[in-house]
Amino acid sequence: MTATAEHGVVSTEPNEEGYREFSLGEFRFRRDEYFVYITWPTGHHIMSVDAFLRALQRDIAWDFFYGTVNFDGVFGTVNHYGTVDIFAGRYNDSYRKAELDYSENIQTPRIRETFKSILDDWTNETFDPFASPHETGSAFGIKNGDNHRAVARQRVQAGRMVGLPGDAPLRSDEAGYPVNRMFADVPQDEPEIYAEPGFEDQVSAFSLFAYLSRSDVTWNPSVASVCKESLFCPTTEEYILPIIHGNDRVEWFIQLTDQITWEVEDRETGAVRARVVMKAGDVSAMPADIRHQGYSPKRSMLLVWENASADLPDLIASGKTPTYPIDF
Ligand code: PHB
Ligand code: FE
Repeated sequence: MTATAEHGVVSTEPNEEGYREFSLGEFRFRRDEYFVYITWPTGHHIMSVDAFLRALQRDIAWDFFYGTVNFDGVFGTVNHYGTVDIFAGRYNDSYRKAELDYSENIQTPRIRETFKSILDDWTNETFDPFASPHETGSAFGIKNGDNHRAVARQRVQAGRMVGLPGDAPLRSDEAGYPVNRMFADVPQDEPEIYAEPGFEDQVSAFSLFAYLSRSDVTWNPSVASVCKESLFCPTTEEYILPIIHGNDRVEWFIQLTDQITWEVEDRETGAVRARVVMKAGDVSAMPADIRHQGYSPKRSMLLVWENASADLPDLIASGKTPTYPIDF
């Protein structure tokens, strides 16, 4: 049965495995027990369903993020902040040369709602796409319940310095989250604050390590402080970043604990550019013309420092601002 609904549902009847099929423009999406099948007018693609759902979860939670979210070397989205390109093979040299690449520009609310419907329908009760693979059940098999609670999670964003009136409910310890098994050695004491009388609601401090040690998700930066366009986005990482992020601006990494290996490729072609091994205390700046994916063998803490200025993508694309952060 086919009926094109406003959120792009193609079949209203579930397939043999119990999952609905979806469309978005000329793209079609189908899953079975193990795989996701994506088709477009000039080609088709296959992905493991766990990897697909982990990437989809982040694309939705970050509202298409900064620049490009590659689900893998073929499929992904580019954020134009109001509209989103959905593409296949666009940033893959072989697909481009063979003229198999394809992309469509879609109004953000439409792609957002379609992606949410896919994630919700295709995520079983046993699977949490934000959790580390060691801390979640299986994504595979025939349709088995749902995990509405997990897939509706959004990244936490502070409105101002955490702890001050008007911040966001960032404190996972207050919500009763346990310390993660890999952060059992992280001290839990909080700083003592002695504000001058009259400044009690303007001075605040909290232990970022204690906060991060209780994070129940991986590869999901929260926004812990906002100072004009400067966003501090700490996060806990384990296993592999489920997307390959193509920057539209420079982005800084400060490795707070443990170690992450970053595979860095050319943003347009996917050609290998560098491998960056970051140990606790290391700082790096990722240029604006690359894409990167991180590998974290132990749960680690990372601070991602973003410049949220809406002017940056155009300044960099037009060459007025360099793709690297600093001239030495
Ligand atoms: C990134 O693409 O820079 C990124 C995304 C999610 C993370 C860490 C880094 O958790
Ligand atoms: Fe990035």
